[in-house]
Amino acid sequence: MKNLLITGGAGFIGSNFVHHILETHPDYQVVVFDKLTYAGNLDNLKDVTRDPRYTFVQGDICDAEAVEQVMREHQIDTIVNFAADTHVDRSLMEPGTFIQTDVYGTYVLLEAAKKFGVERYHQISTDEVYGEVMEGRSSEEDRLHTRSPYSASKAGGDLMCLAYFTSFGVPVTITRGSNNIGPYQYPEKVVPLFITNAIDDIPLPLYGDGTQMRDYQYVRDHCEGIDAVLHQGQPGEIYNLGTGVETRNIDMARLILKLLGKPESLIQPITDRPGHDRRYALDCRKIQSLGWRSRHSFEEALEKTVRWYVDNQWWWRKIKSGAHYEEYYERQYAGREID
Ligand code: NAD
Ligand code: DAU
Repeated sequence: MKNLLITGGAGFIGSNFVHHILETHPDYQVVVFDKLTYAGNLDNLKDVTRDPRYTFVQGDICDAEAVEQVMREHQIDTIVNFAADTHVDRSLMEPGTFIQTDVYGTYVLLEAAKKFGVERYHQISTDEVYGEVMEGRSSEEDRLHTRSPYSASKAGGDLMCLAYFTSFGVPVTITRGSNNIGPYQYPEKVVPLFITNAIDDIPLPLYGDGTQMRDYQYVRDHCEGIDAVLHQGQPGEIYNLGTGVETRNIDMARLILKLLGKPESLIQPITDRPGHDRRYALDCRKIQSLGWRSRHSFEEALEKTVRWYVDNQWWWRKIKSGAHYEEYYERQYAGREID
C-alpha cells in the first residue's frame, strides 16, 4: 500500500484519518476525493495542505468517470471509503440522498476497485447496521436489523462490499464503528451540538427521556483501528470497532455542562427521534485480536473534545452562522420542546 484514495476525507473521521496516515506512514501518498457537501470542509485539512504527499480532488463517488480518472492519474492501490451521508435525522428528511451516496456510491467505488485491481478496498461502516441491541453485544456474525434510512443504506453498502468479495474477489474489509467524538465533527451530531450550544448558553435539545445509550469513542482511536484492519485484517472480513462502554445521553449532556461550568437547566427535553434506537453495543474481541485497543476512556475523550471546541471557535462559528446550518436547525428543532 502506497497510494491511498481517501473518499470523504474532508469530513470528520476522514480528515482525522488523513492526519493519522500522514503522521504514521511517511512513505504513503494520500489523495482525498470528496464532493464537499455541507459536511465536507477543507478547513479540516488546512494543517496538511502543504504536505507534498497530500492531494485534494473534488468529486462525487457516484460519478464513475471522475472516480476512474483519479484512480488512473494517481495510480491508486488502496481505497478507504468514508464518503457517505451520515446524519440519522437528515436520513428521515431525505432518504433518497442516503441511498444514492451510501449504496450506489459504494457500488461505483467497488467497480473501480475491481477494474484497477486494488490491493485493498476498505469500507467504513457503523454499529447502527445491527439495529438496537437491548441486551448483550453485537458480533460480526449477527443479522442486520436496520431501523433508519441511514442504517439501511449503510447496510446496503456493506452487503455490496461482501458481494464484490465473493463474486469478483475484490479484497474488501469492513469496520463497523461506534459513535466518534473529537475535532472537526460537524455540529449537527449530538456531542459537538451540545458543546457549542452550551458555550453560548443555548438549550441542549435532548431527545425523549435521554436514557438512550451510545458507545462514544475518540476519533483517533477509531482511526488507529481502521489502520490495524487495513494492514492486518483479512479480506472478506468484518471488524467491530468501539470501546465496549456505553453512556446514556443524559449523562453525556451533564458531563459536558460540568466540564464547561454551565447549569443543568440548559438541558431541554424535546420530542423523540422517530424509530430512535435505544442502545448499540459491540463485541470488539475480533479487532482486539489484531492488537488494537482504544486508548481513551469516555471521560478522557469527552474532555479532550470539549477543550478542542473551546479552543477552536473559529472553526464551528463559521458553520453555525451559515444559512445552511440555521435552516437545518430551525427545521429539525423548532417547536419540539417538552415541558
Ligand atoms: P461526515 O458527514 O463528517 O463526512 C462525510 C464526508 O463525505 C464529507 O466530507 C462529504 O463531503 C463527503 N461526501 C458525501 N457524499 C459524497 C459523495 N457523493 N462523493 C464524495 N464525497 C462525499 O461523516 P463522518 O462522521 O466523518 O463519517 C465518515 C464515515 O464513517 C461514514 O461512512 C459514516 O457512515 C461512518 N461512521 C461514522 C460514525 C460517526 O460517529 N460519525 C461512526 C461510525 C461510522
Ligand atoms: O453509531 C454510529 C453512528 O453514530 C454513525 O454511524 C452515524 O453516522 C453518527 O451520526 C452517529 O449516529 P447517532 O444517531 O448515534 O448520533 P447522533 O449524534 O445523531 O445522536 C447520538 C444520540 O444523541 C442519539 O441517541 C440521539 C441523541 N440526540 C441527538 C441529537 C442530534 C439528542 O438527544 N439530541 C440531538 O439533538
